[in-house]
Amino acid sequence: MPLVDLHAAVAILAQGGLCAVPTETVYGLGADALDEAAVRRVFALKGRPPGHPLILHALDPERWAVFDARAEALRRFWPGPLTLILPRRPEVPRVVTGGRETVAVRVPDHPLTLKLLAQLGRPIAAPSANPFGRISPTTAAHVLESWPELPVLDGGPCAVGVESTIVDLSGPVASILRPGWIEAEDLGIELGPPSGTAAPGTLPSHYAPRARLVAVEDPDREARRHRGEGLRVGVMKAGDPVLYAQRLYAWMRELDEEGVDLIVAGLAPERGIGIAVNDRLRRASR
Ligand code: TXA
Ligand code: MG
Repeated sequence: MPLVDLHAAVAILAQGGLCAVPTETVYGLGADALDEAAVRRVFALKGRPPGHPLILHALDPERWAVFDARAEALRRFWPGPLTLILPRRPEVPRVVTGGRETVAVRVPDHPLTLKLLAQLGRPIAAPSANPFGRISPTTAAHVLESWPELPVLDGGPCAVGVESTIVDLSGPVASILRPGWIEAEDLGIELGPPSGTAAPGTLPSHYAPRARLVAVEDPDREARRHRGEGLRVGVMKAGDPVLYAQRLYAWMRELDEEGVDLIVAGLAPERGIGIAVNDRLRRASR
């Protein structure tokens, strides 16, 4: 059954099943957000600890989260790669929020998933569709590499390629918990440092390929050095940062496939989408 059409995806989710769904950032492992048993199955399949809350993907986020003036202003980025952390409304099942009083909401910008949300008539809780701690999928084939039996709504390769920007609006000082396509300067709100308790998913080791990865300014030089030591080295070079972001995770997967010992990744210029790319590279490195 793996690749399913929109009609089947709606039916699967409506019956409490799981279905991977395309978004503009990465594929999500979706469940009906109001069906606690279905949401629990997401945690189980992903191997994700229950304290790591999920993003609620919805057409009507204000129905699930309490908006303030800052959130109202940031609404203009939706549908789009922006997630807001806001006080939750009581209708949101606690399993989605990992027991927190806040909820992460976003309106994803993918035509198929927007139709899916409209036809389902309920929000979809979805983490990235990868086993916990591994690389996020940017194609349907990537999802099936992890879970060959999982129904996947194929929406083609993801346009952005890295996960949404997460802005924490749960306290008086807004902060960015995870950089993404939408940049700090675009937001037009005052930002401070993240409050220590806010960022459960930003574990240092995340998004990791199987091979060891090092992120450096000059990947060719670093690769030569390690090849000299007899290692099989795969190189990823920055080039156009937008294309680099799009290709980043697929590239890591390809190099893993090739069985390299070490991935040497060039850091992008630290601006725009390059900030998100470098964030993921630093988390993937060890
Ligand atoms: O682009 C994306 O955001 C993708 C697509 C599928 O929408 N989703 C995604 O989900 O990256 P996930 O679960 O892999 O990452 C969501 C992050 C996690 O780090 C989680 O801890 C954090 O959002 N998060 C969710 N709810 C939160 C909350 N109430 N407070 C703080 N962080 C929260
Ligand atoms: Mg993830």
